[in-house]
Amino acid sequence: MRAARYHGYGPADVLVIEDISEPHAGPGEVRIQAAAASVNAIDWKLRSGAFHNNFPVEFPAIPGRDAAGVVDEVGAGVDDVMIGDEVFGLGGVFGASAEHAVLSAWALVPDPWTLEQAAGAGLAVATAGRGLNALGDLSGRTLLIEGAAGGVGSAAVAMAVARGATVLGTASTGKHDFLRRLGALPTTYGDGLIERIRELAPKGVDAVLDAAASGSLADLVTIAGSAGRVVTVADAARASKLGVRHYYAENESAVLAEGAALGARGGYTPYLAAKYPLDKITEAHREAERGHTQGKIIVTL
Ligand SMILES: NC(=O)c1ccc[n+]([C@@H]2O[C@H](COP(=O)([O-])OP(=O)(O)OC[C@H]3O[C@@H](n4cnc5c(N)ncnc54)[C@H](OP(=O)(O)O)[C@@H]3O)[C@@H](O)[C@H]2O)c1
Repeated sequence: MRAARYHGYGPADVLVIEDISEPHAGPGEVRIQAAAASVNAIDWKLRSGAFHNNFPVEFPAIPGRDAAGVVDEVGAGVDDVMIGDEVFGLGGVFGASAEHAVLSAWALVPDPWTLEQAAGAGLAVATAGRGLNALGDLSGRTLLIEGAAGGVGSAAVAMAVARGATVLGTASTGKHDFLRRLGALPTTYGDGLIERIRELAPKGVDAVLDAAASGSLADLVTIAGSAGRVVTVADAARASKLGVRHYYAENESAVLAEGAALGARGGYTPYLAAKYPLDKITEAHREAERGHTQGKIIVTL
């Protein structure tokens, strides 16, 4: 099969397309004939060597954590999907940017989504769901999402609105209409955020989800009133200093099913900022690395 790989740390140019042997589904896993894979921040951060001390990469590595496609192998013990079903989901930290990917958490692609849109949902929904779950019941509460227009942030807006929250979201001004369409009240991030949020939510903010790692975590604690009301999925370093909880996405099919059910009701459609064929994955990584993606970038297979 064709796969993107890299044989050493470096800029996006280290990515090459190679013919390699296919992976197979182990117990509790499925393999897909992939239609598309998502490009995530973790992919380029690992590739660059930035995480070398905590998470050294074994080479060669196939970037990509989540994908969507048609099930073509079902591992032992799996009884909720069959060969031919269209699914999206998560595999390991590596392996998704390839014609076949093995998933250990998945959900059926809801009718309104294309397979390409579904490819943008896996890690975004898993991360958003993990962060929102940690904030407790959001019904009737006011939630601020920092970095609301990105892949994780936009999934979090849709999921939080569906859970009954009033959602405020930060993004650059060009993305404010996008946030409104998702159901959030938009504002810009950066200097003056505390004052802007006071104006938008005079009764205060009950909870904050940080999906940006922009350096604003201390301000977000001030906005929420205490560190316990803030969760970050993006800024582990500042979180530990401020007593804010930090979470990683987990391969949980239940949260993917929540995203799919929301998709089926028309409450969430992964927005694709750009799609690149596998041959152009270098450009996809470069674009993701600029850090201003609206929704998701995918590579098609
Ligand atoms: N914990 C986990 O398991 C996990 C999983 C996935 C992702 N993450 C992390 O979560 C973060 C978001 O991931 P993503 O995939 O959603 O990224 P993304 O799609 O690249 O989105 C990043 C968003 O951040 C916004 N942004 C840029 N600079 C900002 C600033 N100074 N203040 C506020 N927002 C700013 C951008 O909005 P504008 O374009 O409007 O500037 C963009 O929409 C990343 O740090 C990523 O590493 C963690």
